[in-house]
Amino acid sequence: MSDRKPYVGGNWKMNTSVDTSSSLARGVVDACESAQGSVDIVVFPPAPYLIGVKSILRSRPTSIATGAQDLYFEADGAFTGEISVAMVKDCGCGHALAGHSERRHVIGESDELVNAKVRATLEGGLTCVLCIGETLEEREAGETNAVNERQLRTGLADVGLRQMDKVVIAYEPVWAIGTGKTASPEDAQAAHAFIRGLLAEMFSDEVAQRTRIIYGGSVKPSNAAALFGQPDIDGGLIGGASLKVEDFAAIVKAAAPH
Ligand code: 13P
Repeated sequence: MSDRKPYVGGNWKMNTSVDTSSSLARGVVDACESAQGSVDIVVFPPAPYLIGVKSILRSRPTSIATGAQDLYFEADGAFTGEISVAMVKDCGCGHALAGHSERRHVIGESDELVNAKVRATLEGGLTCVLCIGETLEEREAGETNAVNERQLRTGLADVGLRQMDKVVIAYEPVWAIGTGKTASPEDAQAAHAFIRGLLAEMFSDEVAQRTRIIYGGSVKPSNAAALFGQPDIDGGLIGGASLKVEDFAAIVKAAAPH
């Protein structure tokens, strides 16, 4: 058992409304009460609902935090449609995702753009959840480790040793996201151990041991405990199941140290 504090994120993606984001936030606070001290719990609502969700969390005695699903690396200016680190902080967020597979593969973000976002997020003092992971074609071609290495090294280029305190890595194999297909605990563990080994090479053993590496891709109450029981899996980034209070709460509980 490591002494890394588990991290569970609820990535709501492009779901919910003013009403349902509020009721989901209230439900998550109530249902996750007992695990709050032992697990870092962060919800990532769509940007228009960040303020509303944050104000609900502020009105309760809770340590559940909010994060942005994405942000842009420039400070301000003519970047129609984008949101800056300062705006995200202004909405009360302490966390942001970078390089989610849907940003990479649906929107077309490059490794270099992801790196610019990672650096801007860290320079702004936010916790950055850098998402990496291979597609099905890459896995079948035997390129899983090579893809994860490229995305990790480029994503963390020019990130300083001390900034690694605010980095969480999310390993999300693209073929497991939203498909109902979960990586087996053993396959996920192998990828996480490989990533931790790279962090040791790139930074130091200490950084590698301290950094949370979380798994994402069809995590459900039924498979969460087996995944989180692996030595190098420090929690999860949850999509579909984070929209259901009971499922998300059960997953958070599975991450809490027993
Ligand atoms: P699902 O849990 O819906 O597979 O999504 C995972 C994910 O992409 C979280 O960021």
